[in-house]
Amino acid sequence: MNIPKHDVLLVGGGGAGLRAAIAAAEAYEGASIGVVSKVYPMRSHTVSAEGGTAAALRDDDSLDLHAYDTIKGSDFLADQDVVEKFVQDAVDEVIQLEHWGCPWSRDEDGRVSVRAFGGMSAKRTLYAADKTGFHMLHALFQTSLKYDAIQRYDEWFATSLLIDDGKVRGVTAINIRSGGVHAIAAKSVIICTGGAGKIFPFTTNAAIKTGDGMALAYRIGCPLKDLEFVQYHPTGLPGTGILMTEASRGEGGYMINSEGDRYLSEYVPGKMELGPRDILSRAFVHEMRAGRVFDGPYGNYVHLDLRHLGEKVIDEKLPFVRELTKNYVGIDPVYEPIPVRPVLHYCMGGVHTDIEGATPIPGLYAAGEAACVSMNGANRLGSNSLTECLVFGALSGRSAGQYALEQDYLDPYTIDRMAQDEQKRIETQFFGDGGKERVANIRDDLRSTMEQGVGIFRTDEELKATCETIRQLKERYQNVGLDDKSSVFNTELIAALELGYMLDVADGLAHSALQREESRGSHSRSDFEERDDEKFLQHSLAYQTDGDPRIEYLPVTLTRWEPEERKY
Ligand code: FUM
Repeated sequence: MNIPKHDVLLVGGGGAGLRAAIAAAEAYEGASIGVVSKVYPMRSHTVSAEGGTAAALRDDDSLDLHAYDTIKGSDFLADQDVVEKFVQDAVDEVIQLEHWGCPWSRDEDGRVSVRAFGGMSAKRTLYAADKTGFHMLHALFQTSLKYDAIQRYDEWFATSLLIDDGKVRGVTAINIRSGGVHAIAAKSVIICTGGAGKIFPFTTNAAIKTGDGMALAYRIGCPLKDLEFVQYHPTGLPGTGILMTEASRGEGGYMINSEGDRYLSEYVPGKMELGPRDILSRAFVHEMRAGRVFDGPYGNYVHLDLRHLGEKVIDEKLPFVRELTKNYVGIDPVYEPIPVRPVLHYCMGGVHTDIEGATPIPGLYAAGEAACVSMNGANRLGSNSLTECLVFGALSGRSAGQYALEQDYLDPYTIDRMAQDEQKRIETQFFGDGGKERVANIRDDLRSTMEQGVGIFRTDEELKATCETIRQLKERYQNVGLDDKSSVFNTELIAALELGYMLDVADGLAHSALQREESRGSHSRSDFEERDDEKFLQHSLAYQTDGDPRIEYLPVTLTRWEPEERKY
C-alpha cells in the first residue's frame, strides 16, 4: 500500500502555504513537508495582490503606531496580543523576503519604498510597483524549490480531513489530472486555502476562492470565527470586479462623485481617500442613495481620478492599473477617470486559531485568509494581509512542525479505508443518475442571496431571508447531478465539491451576521446602528450542526489599547 506521508501537510500553495512550508523545512531538518494545491502555486490568489505589504520600517513610524492603526481599523475586535506579535514579526519577514529575492521598489537613496495606505498613520506599505503579490509569490515559490523536503501535489483537490482519535491525520484529495480519491497521511495539516469571496457575485477574488479549507475544518468540528465580517474594497471595476488597487489612492488619486465633488470629505474628512475600506464602501452607498453617482451598464459607479498624477507617476508606480483599465474598460487613466464601485474583497473571518496558528482540533493549523487568528477584527487595513500570510504562515509552519515531532502516522490500512469511504461518498452523491439540480444554478442563487442579505448594509429581515434561502439551497444541493462522469480533469465534479464548501461557509457567515445585533467595522446593521461593546466585544464562533450553525462567543483579548469611538 503506497500512501504518501508527511510530517507537515499544507493544503493551499499561496503566500501563507509556501511561507509555512519553508518555515517547517527550515526549522525541522529531516521533516517531510507536502503541499497540496488545487492550482499550480503560482496561480494561487496571492499572485493577484497589487498594492503592497505593511511593515513599520521608517523612522517616522513605530511598531506601536502600526499596532494601534490595525486595532482601530479592526473596530477594536482584533486580539491585541496577536496584533503586537504581527507588527513585530512583520519587519523581519519583509526583510527576509528581500533576501529571498523579492524586488521591492526603491527610493532614489536606495531604501525600500513605502507608500500610504488606508487607515494607516504613516507610509508603511512596501511594494513592487502595483504587482506586489506576483513578486512576493515568486520569491516564496523560488525559495521553496531549494528544499528537497518540500513535495508538491499540484492540481490536487482536498476533499476531507482525516480524523482519528480526535486528531487530524491527513487528507483525502483528488488528483485532478488522473482522477480518483487518494489519501495523504500527515502528522499535522495546515489549512492555507485563502478566503471564500466567490460566495458573492461581484468580487475581486479568483474563481478558486471557494472557502475550501474553512469548510473542511468546519466539517470536523472546528469553529469558524468572525465569519460575519467580510470586506468590500471601494474600488473595483464595474462588471468584472477587477481590483483598482488602493495604491492608486495611496499615490494621491481622488474619488469623485457625479457632481464632481471629492465626496469623502462628508464621511472621512481626516483621511479622505485614505479612509478605511468599510467606511469608504458605505460612503458609496450613501452617495448612491442620494443620487450622486453615475449610471452604467453594470450599475452605479463613481470615479477614481488619477489624471493629476501624470503619466510618469502612473507608469512607474501604477503600471498594472493602466494596463488593466486599458484592457478591461478601454480607458487610459492618464487621460480619463476610472469608473469604480465597491466590490467584495476579503474575509476577515475564518478557521479559529490561536497566535501560533493552532486550531482547537489537535493536528490542525491554519494561516492566511483561510484562518482567523484575530488580527483583522471587524475590518482589515489594506496591505496587512500579505504580511499576515508571511508572519502567521511562518509561525504555523513552525508550530505544526513542532507538534509533528511528537506524533506517529496513522496506520496505512485505516487511512486507505478512509480514502475508499471518501471515494464512495463522492460517487454516491454525484455520479448517480437521479440528480436534477445544476451546480451553476445553485451557485448563482447562493451568490444573489448573499449580496441581498449579507452585503454592505444588513437587516434582521434580509438576514433571516438569506439564512432560509441557504437552507433551501443546501437541500437542493443534495440533488445535484453531473453531466460529466469521467475522472480526468472533471472540472464539473470539482465545481460541485466547491459548491458544497461555499454553502457551508455561507451558512456560518449568514447566521453569525444575523446574531450580531450591532454595527462594527464591515458589519453594518441598519437596525442596530451602534457598536455594542457590552454585548459584542467578542468573537463569534460558528459550529456546524445537523441544523442551523450554532454560534458561540469568545472575548476579545485587550492588552494596551482601550476600545474607543472609531473616528477618522
Ligand atoms: O488595493 C489593494 O492593493 C489591496 C490590498 C490589500 O487588500 O491588502
